[in-house]
Amino acid sequence: MTNAEKINVGLNDRSYPILIGPNLLKAADTYLYDFVSNRHCIVISDTTIGPIYQNLLAKTISPICCKLNNLRVPSGENSKSLSVFTEICNDILNIGIDRNTILIALGGGVIGDLVGFASASLLRGIDYIQIPTSLLAQVDSSVGGKTGINAQAGKNLIGAFHQPKIVLTDTNLLNSLSKRELLSGYAEIVKYGLLGDANFFKWLEKNWSDILDLKQDKVIYAIKRSCEMKAEIVASDETEKGMRALLNLGHTFAHAFEAIAEYNGELLHGEAVAAGLGLAFDFSYTKQLCSKEDAARVRSHLAQTGLPYNYASLPAGKAPIPQIIEHMRKDKKTVSNELTFILANRIGKACVVQNISEEEISSFFIAKGVNHV
Ligand SMILES: NC(=O)c1ccc[n+]([C@@H]2O[C@H](COP(=O)([O-])OP(=O)(O)OC[C@H]3O[C@@H](n4cnc5c(N)ncnc54)[C@H](O)[C@@H]3O)[C@@H](O)[C@H]2O)c1
Ligand SMILES: [Zn+2]
Repeated sequence: MTNAEKINVGLNDRSYPILIGPNLLKAADTYLYDFVSNRHCIVISDTTIGPIYQNLLAKTISPICCKLNNLRVPSGENSKSLSVFTEICNDILNIGIDRNTILIALGGGVIGDLVGFASASLLRGIDYIQIPTSLLAQVDSSVGGKTGINAQAGKNLIGAFHQPKIVLTDTNLLNSLSKRELLSGYAEIVKYGLLGDANFFKWLEKNWSDILDLKQDKVIYAIKRSCEMKAEIVASDETEKGMRALLNLGHTFAHAFEAIAEYNGELLHGEAVAAGLGLAFDFSYTKQLCSKEDAARVRSHLAQTGLPYNYASLPAGKAPIPQIIEHMRKDKKTVSNELTFILANRIGKACVVQNISEEEISSFFIAKGVNHV
């Protein structure tokens, strides 16, 4: 077995390991042995990733599992819909499953969320494994057990907390990912530094281009540190009653921009997050929570990597302020006109700030000199 880095997500009887390293998929029979041997496995992927990796995985694990099926859904956010969810559940039930069947999510965050929710729902809950293939999924969505699909009323509104049995993160899979998707995933890595580890952010300022060039040691460290931080936060607050909310740094802004862009591929999640991180620090400075220097440093790092750091330059940045605020309210699932934001006291220390009025956010946007609608 090659040396994989191992992180434990400590959730008592729902604890599980995250294994990180190069070429793990080729040795999936070894790494996944305890979870797939003598079991019926159904590997679910999308139409982009499936043709590249599904055969390799099947070839590796089929000798040890008792039965293996491959399924695919169209790639893209639209697969996190009730109709695709229904289809995939029916396909799985038509194959024939029992409580010992295990699902394997081989893909990005879309596959992870969809398959995770299917496994939470089928037979009132069966096991699943995450094999994340996008950088975003490797540092974020595959860890923590949030599963779900989108509703007409908004993103991720139908779902369940359901933890995987193991996360197998093969860093070589990133070789086939587009540079734009890679950079988008990098925004979530920056988020971890900003929310809780100033030294990690400093390390990213120095090593970002090696990470984006997929220098293995750097990529592995960046993923490992991100997963360690997420694992620690999830272990302390599995169902987001408190501290887990810090993982949403930059996301209230980001989700509003994504909703305005209608998830049509024009704006990737990480791109929206990058703009959101810049705004969260600017807003923190406006509220005298953090220094001007920290806010400038965040912007300058985002700019240096090529991530959008100026929300007005986004396609959704032309939207009128009331529309942005309306989406923020929906995202927070609140009907009151006061919002809670994740802001920062400094780089490496995020905080929850409650009771922010819509007028205050509106003035903040106006002061930025854009969107006087
Ligand atoms: N559950 C959570 O905690 C959580 C956290 C963050 C995001 N999410 C969800 O994750 C989703 C976004 O995830 P994503 O950015 O991975 O999107 P995605 O799954 O759509 O993947 C992005 C694109 O890259 C392709 N792709 C992925 N891996 C590839 C590879 N190795 N080689 C070639 N192509 C590859 C996919 O086919 C897709 O076209 C959103 O739906 C978001 O809501 C969930
Ligand atoms: Zn995110």
